[in-house]
Amino acid sequence: MSGAGVPVPSRRAPSKEMDWHAFRDELKPRRFVAARRALADRYEGLTVEHLELGQSVGAGRRDEPLFQVVPYKEAYSPGLVRSLLDHMGIRKGALLDPFAGAGTSVLVAAQRGMPGVGVDLLPFAAFAGRTLLRVGEADWDKIDRTEPRLLASDSERKGRFPNFPVREWAFTPAALAQLTALHDAIGQVGSVIERDVLRLALLCCVEEMSQATKDGTSLRQRPHGHRDGRYGLHHSREAVRSAFSDKLALLRIGADTLASAPPSSEVLTGDARRIAELLDGRKFDVAVCSPPYPNRYDYVSNYQLELGFGFVDNADALRRLRKAQLRSHLEAPWAEERTLELAALDEFLSALLASEHRSKEVGRVFRMVSGYFEDMSQVLAGMHGVMRPGAQVAIVMGSQVFANEVLPTDLLLAEIAELHGYVVKEIQVARYKGIAVQQRQRVKKPAGSRESVLLLTA
Ligand SMILES: C[S@@+](CC[C@H](N)C(=O)[O-])C[C@H]1O[C@@H](n2cnc3c(N)ncnc32)[C@H](O)[C@@H]1O
Repeated sequence: MSGAGVPVPSRRAPSKEMDWHAFRDELKPRRFVAARRALADRYEGLTVEHLELGQSVGAGRRDEPLFQVVPYKEAYSPGLVRSLLDHMGIRKGALLDPFAGAGTSVLVAAQRGMPGVGVDLLPFAAFAGRTLLRVGEADWDKIDRTEPRLLASDSERKGRFPNFPVREWAFTPAALAQLTALHDAIGQVGSVIERDVLRLALLCCVEEMSQATKDGTSLRQRPHGHRDGRYGLHHSREAVRSAFSDKLALLRIGADTLASAPPSSEVLTGDARRIAELLDGRKFDVAVCSPPYPNRYDYVSNYQLELGFGFVDNADALRRLRKAQLRSHLEAPWAEERTLELAALDEFLSALLASEHRSKEVGRVFRMVSGYFEDMSQVLAGMHGVMRPGAQVAIVMGSQVFANEVLPTDLLLAEIAELHGYVVKEIQVARYKGIAVQQRQRVKKPAGSRESVLLLTA
């Protein structure tokens, strides 16, 4: 944080030869907040409220067809990327998003004529972003000729779907038969861009045509009911066909807003922790991204229906993909080693163990949080290597409260970023989320549940 009069911490390796698991066994449960207060004090001068960004850090403002078509609840709104690029004064150069999701950042960059590379571990997300980038190049006459033929494809069979645990309840036989019949028929389409666009339209109606909903941290059965979209209504073959046609129509409108992306724009399927290997020497001028928050949300579990359509073949492969995600969810394994020693993080972990509100999840939360920061340290280090000197980085991040203890995720990431050589320019608080009154009293500054944007220079 040079220039702000705040000392830059030196890169310290943990004093003892100890992994996180062993560290937990030795850690004394203590309920203090001093280190977290000191961290908030340290960044106070750089923390600025930008509550006008509040609506667009979430998916609430994705009503432009290009961004609306993929139902990606965890996506931010294109307006946020535009505001951040404008705020940073970026008009040209190459953009990186190592957690691309539905491709929002690279798509906005492409609309501005800037090349962009996205990376996402979820093959469905990477496919969606990649296909949207090329949607303006599709031959819509060809698609118009193909669509009726596809809709006529018929199958009375229940349809192939991998042996994921949700298989038993996620679809009605009619919906699954129609979805899989259409998916098989689309697979036969010869030209690549048109085939991908048709497949994306189908994938975008999978959840809507299922009896499952992404609810909280995992996939749940939709409640019974009689309203449109509820269990029992959207299960006919006809409903699937009409949802598919609707998505295709939306994609066509979206295509008009992105005639053609720069040729070097792409979205890769891969792990952000290995960004340097993935990018093969490419360098970037700006990054706008939102990593998973350490909030227990499991992307692989939530997107297993879409993943079952040609991306992941069986339950074992799905389990492996779950474990390969960033350690932001409770099934995440322990981090391999403990390289970080941050007073505020250690204090949070110790307070978590001491909390009177601790639940039986505490052990898994400990493992997730410690692993999360190790992972993000690796990501930030890798990103630093692929950004041009002076390049700007915007990271959208949420902070959490576990067992009534505040985890100041954004500030911890700022601290880790400095360890890797970034300069922290600003922490823009976009919105506060339900901080309990007693929490505000205990940690004077509301470093708890909030979403903010970290602005860094590489
Ligand atoms: C908050 S979402 C990003 C949403 C994105 N900004 C958008 O607008 O669509 C975080 C993404 O990180 C991805 N992810 C999780 N672990 C990853 C990893 N190890 N490497 C790359 N991506 C990962 C998830 O699949 C998810 O799409």
